[in-house]
Amino acid sequence: MTATLLQRRERLLGAGAPLFYREPVHIVRGEGVAVFDPDGRRYVDMYNNVPCVGHCHPHVVEAISEQVATLNVHSRYLHEGILDYAERLADHHHDGIESVVFTCTGTEANEVALMMARLATGGRGIVCTNAAYHGNSAAVRQLTRPKDNAGEVRSIPFPETYRCQAQDPLNWHLDRLREVIESFKRDGIPFAGTLLCPILANEGLPDIPPGFMAQAAELTRATGGVFIADEVQAGLGRTGLWWGYETQGVQPDIAVMGKPLGAGVPVAATAASRELVETFRRGSGYFNTFAASPLQAAAGNAVLDVIENEHLRTNVASVGQALRDKLKELQAGCEAMGDVRGHGLFIGVEWVQDRAAKKPDRAGAVRVVNAMKDKGFLIGNAGAFGNVVKIRPPLVFSSVDAAAFLTAFEETLGELPIK
Ligand SMILES: Cc1ncc(COP(=O)(O)O)c(C=O)c1O
Repeated sequence: MTATLLQRRERLLGAGAPLFYREPVHIVRGEGVAVFDPDGRRYVDMYNNVPCVGHCHPHVVEAISEQVATLNVHSRYLHEGILDYAERLADHHHDGIESVVFTCTGTEANEVALMMARLATGGRGIVCTNAAYHGNSAAVRQLTRPKDNAGEVRSIPFPETYRCQAQDPLNWHLDRLREVIESFKRDGIPFAGTLLCPILANEGLPDIPPGFMAQAAELTRATGGVFIADEVQAGLGRTGLWWGYETQGVQPDIAVMGKPLGAGVPVAATAASRELVETFRRGSGYFNTFAASPLQAAAGNAVLDVIENEHLRTNVASVGQALRDKLKELQAGCEAMGDVRGHGLFIGVEWVQDRAAKKPDRAGAVRVVNAMKDKGFLIGNAGAFGNVVKIRPPLVFSSVDAAAFLTAFEETLGELPIK
């Protein structure tokens, strides 16, 4: 069955369409924290942040179904649902975030943020990190590991304390940002802003020098740019707070949201001050057929209902902390676990060839990920070197689920050729 599906997939989607795991998982159904294969085998989904309130949450399913059965049109009509949703989203942000541009994907939302920053500042130059991913359109993919620092998008080494050799990692990394901003000036490219994931999820969730994000935002503004937080992975309760930027004590000018907002209905958003949003509206005439629709609103509002009513941020903070503490205990007996870190229910375990040298061990991380899949737990590997075991269960993940995961993880450490 799997072999036949693989062949069909290659033919119909083209070889090279990405697939997880050495032996891919065929799933047909999801419920809560789990997904199931056709034989009823249960896998705990500890990777996908789209079904953030759990797969097929009854409240979300009902809200989406009802809306589809009532009305679904594009956004050029008056409809209260999307206004209620925009209001709720903005209210969960800091006071400077007032208005919202809806889109369907994180890529589009970042595209809007880039346009907004450039229209508002009259600049072009954008700073990102050297191991970022923010999306795949022509404009946004320029922020994926820029090859050189010669164009309109330039990168800084992602700020971190694990491998950084500098005496003062905070100022070392701020100096890199200062240099890149100055290089724009030197090359006659007016600066538009800095776009960062506030917890550097794709970079591998490193510990960021405390104060970096806030000082980077200050530096960005002092040199004429706007500070953009890409919350596509970090946002909506994932860290135990509403937004990743809150973990870093920074308030962005523009917040970009996506993945978990719609529980699978494509919903993404770029939020900012009314002034920034209206500058964007005037300058771009932006329209997006499937965005700001009643269906997006129904999905988005239902997801917010669940996070609020089930107190999921509290659950994320407590279960996440306990899981991280237990993984740190396991780290003491496992040389390959170079670092255990993260925020809330978003944990990264840095897999290394030996703890002192910190040499990344991508193959080791991939072995762990595949072994855990065989035990019924879906995790992934990510990061600048692909060696960070990425653990990101839904926000409804319980302490019982965490205990089951830890048992399987400990077994895996005993079974694999790991020091
Ligand atoms: C931080 C971040 N921003 C943006 C995106 C792009 O989102 P989408 O795939 O919905 O276009 C991703 C996707 O993985 C992401 O991780």
